[in-house]
Amino acid sequence: MTSLTPINFAETNLDAIAGAEGKLAILVTPDGKLDNAGRRVNRLVKQAVSRLVESDRWDKVKTGEGFTLGFPTGLAATALLVVKLDRRPSVEEARRAGAALAQFKGIDALLICAGSTTRLSDLALGLAARDYDFDTHKTSDRTERAGSVIQCAKPDAARAEAQVALAVAEGVFFTRDLVNEPANVLTTEEFANRLVAMKSLGLEVEVLEEADLAKLGMRTLLSVGQGSESPSKVVVMKWHGGGDEKPLALIGKGVVFDTGGISMKPAAGMEDMTMDMGGAGVVAGVMRTLALRKAAANVVGIVGLVENMPDGRATRPGDVVTSMKGDTVEIINTDAEGRLVLCDIMWYAQERFDPTGMVDLATLTGAIIIGLGHENAGVFSNNDAFCSTFLRAADAEGEGAWRMPLGQAYDDQLKSRIADMKNVGGRPAGSITAAQFLQRFVKPDTPWIHLDIAGVASVTKDTMLAPKGATGWGVMALNRMVQDAYES
Ligand code: BES
Ligand code: ZN
Ligand code: MN
Repeated sequence: MTSLTPINFAETNLDAIAGAEGKLAILVTPDGKLDNAGRRVNRLVKQAVSRLVESDRWDKVKTGEGFTLGFPTGLAATALLVVKLDRRPSVEEARRAGAALAQFKGIDALLICAGSTTRLSDLALGLAARDYDFDTHKTSDRTERAGSVIQCAKPDAARAEAQVALAVAEGVFFTRDLVNEPANVLTTEEFANRLVAMKSLGLEVEVLEEADLAKLGMRTLLSVGQGSESPSKVVVMKWHGGGDEKPLALIGKGVVFDTGGISMKPAAGMEDMTMDMGGAGVVAGVMRTLALRKAAANVVGIVGLVENMPDGRATRPGDVVTSMKGDTVEIINTDAEGRLVLCDIMWYAQERFDPTGMVDLATLTGAIIIGLGHENAGVFSNNDAFCSTFLRAADAEGEGAWRMPLGQAYDDQLKSRIADMKNVGGRPAGSITAAQFLQRFVKPDTPWIHLDIAGVASVTKDTMLAPKGATGWGVMALNRMVQDAYES
């Protein structure tokens, strides 16, 4: 597990600044106002800070970003970052500043002089989230990253507030580690073990094995994993913090590797399918955050862990299988496996928990990447109010999400000659027909959101809060939605 680098809060101590080892940062308002620490540093560096903020260069620094002065005179620190930030920044600005501080810090220790600037918990979130490196499989190049100290006016209050932010960052790291992990390490067995280990945080965790799934009639889910040496599993995680309220259900696609099965994918880029458990990864990360911050809500997370491989026992194109619901599916393309996993666990979630709402997450279709790129996840819903609640939460957390349509004409594309439905709807509107397939397994009274995260779960360039690779997209939004809509 990649752990957070420590972030500590301390009283402002101007006399500690000159001798601080590692790196140093001060916060300066966009119009160039220095606080006490800023003035002390400015004096120590013989007015280099004033020269910077009076120069044209300062205008080019974006709010929430900084300018580095290297080996500054008068300071023990090897570099000074002058961060442009309002005393009362927006959430986004505070997180951006935190992310800039993380990148400036690198592996060194960092002292941040924050004075009376507000939203330090968001700054801490940005700092923690951006300070991530998946280096568990590097035998060289692995360096311990030192932590940060934030000097501020009210360290006790800031520390208490930042606890929640750090619980969020830890959930995000949990998701990223799962998504980055190669499939020979993150087998269905290993995935389940990592979830079971969360019992120590107060989560109830149950693992359903193949025999249990067969008994429940989850034959579409089992049909996906039957060509793999890794046994299929469903893991149920329960967080009980909300009295006798019905739970919110979070459902995740956990395909630890997707070759396409007999409808095999081309070789180029197939290695990326190690992230095809991204939906389950987000569900796991949210559950971890809820447990760490002891959320006052009832949430159940259910993930379907399978591997989609070609084999003598694998499902063939043309096979017909019966879902737990009882509907039959003609499997035209074994590469459209995510929906076959989800439909059974969605049905199971509704039968067993009668949830107040259900959100499923899946790296479901390549088509959503064509439609929305890597900026937004596709959002599909049968309930406008529920959907708006989620979209508001995603917006507040800066996680891109865009609603897509559903409709009978799309559903018609799934008609099968020989079974109740096909598992694919042809080329047009591939992400929507995938969502229509799922909707056939949503009871009319269950408010439901489907999130197609194929484009956002893992990306090839750095984002504000994550280096390239797994992003943890959705952990913050779903945690926010639980906090705002399910906790009183
Ligand atoms: N896991 C893939 C979707 C995917 C593609 C995720 C790219 C992340 C990046 C999914 O199982 C899949 O293969 N979908 C097919 C569906 C098709 C056969 C109808 C696709 O998108 O091509
Ligand atoms: Zn897949
Ligand atoms: Mn597939």
